[in-house]
Amino acid sequence: SHQQTWLGKKVLITAGPTFEDLDPVRFIGNRSSGQMGFAIAAAAAQKGAEVTLIAGPVNLDTPTGVTRINVRSAMQMFSQVQAHYASVDIMIGAAAVADYRLAQPSSHKIKKQPNQDELTLTLIKNPDIIAWVAQQVDKPYVVGFAAETQQLADYARQKRLQKGLDMICANQVGDGQGFEVDENALLVMTATDEVALPKQAKYSLAVALLAQLRKQLDITKG
Ligand code: PMT
Repeated sequence: SHQQTWLGKKVLITAGPTFEDLDPVRFIGNRSSGQMGFAIAAAAAQKGAEVTLIAGPVNLDTPTGVTRINVRSAMQMFSQVQAHYASVDIMIGAAAVADYRLAQPSSHKIKKQPNQDELTLTLIKNPDIIAWVAQQVDKPYVVGFAAETQQLADYARQKRLQKGLDMICANQVGDGQGFEVDENALLVMTATDEVALPKQAKYSLAVALLAQLRKQLDITKG
């Protein structure tokens, strides 16, 4: 049955935002709630997969049967992914990873200076976690997400190729879509297929995505 096709499959999922600390009380974050990645984790575990969920700072309960690892920053997420990618069949990057972090986070609270009207923060690039996984010789099947505010299909298609991903799930964000909200829609793209999954609750969308993924895995394996 459909259920059994996920038994024994190992899946690694990233979810939520990353927080990049400026000092002990401030950070740069983003609006990801973690719901999309947690929904995929819940649905995959429900179907019998062995799921490890690397979660950024979110307010969500751990889905039943899922092994959860909490992280805060992109660098912490990267090292957890590095520790786990080689033992899974599939990696799904639903996290909204910060592209940059502070070059020099301050160990003390940054003080407002009376005569300083501008403050310049220097940021440096974070590693691209999913692109790194896609480059490894022992890589799993790699699924990325693309959050775009415009030209969804074109940008996502480019992103899949640039990052060397097997599959990319494109979602339109901004204007009450994608981040934070309960519903989402995805354009699922591989080298050979493009399937539109209509707007629906993130859990049922996750179930539909897993069905597409299952199909691709069967094709890939021949
Ligand atoms: O968490 P929710 O509120 O439910 O919202 C869900 C979501 C909109 C956050 C999710 O569906 C989504 O689109 N996640 C990816 C958001 C994103 O950061 O996209 P991106 O285009 O910046 O990144 C593309 C891909 O590269 C993603 O798989 C991302 O996880 C990965 N990436 C990006 C940067 C980086 N340094 N490392 C990465 O692995």
